[in-house]
Order: sequence, then structure tokens, then C-alpha cells
Amino acid sequence: MITMGKRSVVRTPPIKCQGIKTKLVPFILSSIRWSQGESGRWIEPFLGSGVVAFNLAPRRAILADINPHIIRFYRAIQNGSITPADVQQHLFREGRLLEARGEAHYYAVRKRFNHMADPLDFLFLNRAGFNGLIRFNQEAQYNVPFCKKPGRFSPAYITKIVNQVRWVSLQMQGKAWEFRVASWEEILDLARPEDFVYLDPPYEGRHTDYYNQWTTEQTERLVARMLQLPCGYALSMWLENEYRRNLLVDYLSKHLVIRVYQHFYHIGAEEVNRRWIREALLIHPDYVAEETATLAHPKPAALHHDIHPADSEPVQMSLFDASIERQCDISTQEPIVGI
Ligand SMILES: C[S@@+](CC[C@H](N)C(=O)[O-])C[C@H]1O[C@@H](n2cnc3c(N)ncnc32)[C@H](O)[C@@H]1O
Repeated sequence: MITMGKRSVVRTPPIKCQGIKTKLVPFILSSIRWSQGESGRWIEPFLGSGVVAFNLAPRRAILADINPHIIRFYRAIQNGSITPADVQQHLFREGRLLEARGEAHYYAVRKRFNHMADPLDFLFLNRAGFNGLIRFNQEAQYNVPFCKKPGRFSPAYITKIVNQVRWVSLQMQGKAWEFRVASWEEILDLARPEDFVYLDPPYEGRHTDYYNQWTTEQTERLVARMLQLPCGYALSMWLENEYRRNLLVDYLSKHLVIRVYQHFYHIGAEEVNRRWIREALLIHPDYVAEETATLAHPKPAALHHDIHPADSEPVQMSLFDASIERQCDISTQEPIVGI
């Protein structure tokens, strides 16, 4: 039986991607109540970096993404065809060539990857490319530019990545995890009553690339399908910033429990340029974890008022402020890219 509690130490996986939920892992996992039982599976159709599933480490899981390179990479770790030692050697060799030849080497590896699709080259590009982006053009060719740091693969940086690979490999051991390349529709068809589905689709209209063609129509189809699932589920959605608000979240507050995570980011170094952003986790009402005293946060009146549409059923809401997260021992300060 798994009951998700507060996760105080978040580990980061070796692959980075847009919308990575590293900072939100404690918030997500502490908001959900689910018992895995004898046969329940954690189903994650939009796996991305895998940071949520890998930190939860359920006994059984279906971990899927439409991007075959992500899945191939994690499968290779799972079946032992990529080991931490392989990663160390590959990054050492390619890192030295990068230092010697500069960006020409990055682009040579990118070209090689676009022919051969070697998972180790995928890792190298992901960690040498601009801002940890994963982006493919309309011909499915990887097209992220170089990060302009030829000396990036220092011994410390390589060790950090190797340790991330080792950690992911350890998390997989003894677990029945199935990695699949598939679109979310196919994966949701697999859900059974004892499973739990965590959904984290791409942001609409942002980071559009070959594997991230996400539209309003897709969001609507996903939500409609989610509401029919035979099991528990939670959906991550962008809620609002100073300028815009996602009205679909208001609509869904009639059916689901909403928990809100607020955090801040800076545009430049000045404090006046500090901006807030709120993200929502929409949870099936039967699968909401009780709030603990340490996580509960008084609802600011404005937020409370904003979220409750006048005609909706009362919903349970809470605000998980990033300042609370700072009390936890968060081992990473990775930025959430592209919010
Ligand atoms: C916001 S990211 C998920 C981030 C992830 N939760 C994390 O923390 O790293 C969305 C992911 O959905 C994948 N994706 C996009 N369209 C998809 C589709 N139609 N079916 C399945 N996965 C899709 C993308 O490749 C991307 O990895």
C-alpha cells in the first residue's frame, strides 16, 4: 500500500525538459491520496523528465510519452544497456571534444543523433543544449542550439549526471515499470479502477515542436476523457499569472478539488521584477490527501474569491506557497523552464 506523504527531498533525473515539475514534486505528491494495493499502477502518460514518477517510485507503473527518445533513454537504463559507467565514459569523451572543438562539436553530435538516435547522444545534447530544452522541428529533427558553454562537462558536472542516472536506475530496480512510446489516448485506455493517473500535458501554444503540438482542442479532449476515467486522477494545469488566467480551471472546480501552488520567478536580478505564478493541481475528490498543519496555508481572500465561481459547488482548495517549500530540504534549484 502506498500513501503518498510529503516528500521532503526531491531528486532530479538526468533528462531535463520544458515544464519539468521538480519544484512541484512535494506539492503534487502530498496532495494525492492513493493506495496502490495489490495491483494498482501509477500511470503517467506525459512522462517528460520522469521527475514525479521517479521520486514517487511506485511498485507498478506505466510511464509513457509520445517522444520516443525520452522513453528509449529510460528503457535503456532499465534493461541495463546503458549503465552509469557508460554515461560517465560518453560524457567524458564528448565533453573533452566539446571543449577542444567548441560548438562545432555540439552540432556534429546533433547531426549524428538525428541519423542514429543514440540515447547517450540524446543525454549529451539535452545537457549541452540551450536551457535544458527538448525541441524537434517539423521533420522530427532535434534542433536545440548550443548553450555556448564549451567547458560545461567538468568532472563535477559529469559526476552529477552519472549520479542522476544511478539514482534512476536504483529507483527502477525490483519495480514493474512499463515504458511506452504512445499518445495519451492509448495510455488512458489502459486504466483500471485500482490505478492512479497523473496528467501533465504541455502548455497550450508554447514550446510547440514535433512532439508538443498541444492545442485547446486537445486540452478539452483530454479533460473530457479524464472525467470518464474508472480510477483516481490528478491533472496539472497552469492557473494564472498577473496577466492571464486559465478559465478551464474555474470550470473544472465544479467537479474536482483544486490545490494551488504559488511560486515566484525573476526577470533580471532586481527585486521589483519578482513575479508570481500559480499552478493548479485538479484532483478527483476521492483521492485528495488531507492537508497537514505544515502544508496548510491560509487562503488569501483574493485567491479564494477568484477561484470560486459564484455558480459552482463548493470545492476544497488550498494554496501551497513556494515559501513553504523552502522549509523542505529541496536538493535542487532547477528552474521550471518556460512557464
Ligand atoms: C509538460 S511535459 C511533462 C513534464 C513532466 N511532468 C516532468 O515533470 O518532467 C509534457 C510531455 O508530454 C509529452 N507529450 C506531448 N504531446 C503528447 C501526446 N499527445 N501524448 C503523450 N505525450 C505527449 C511531451 O513529449 C512532454 O514530454
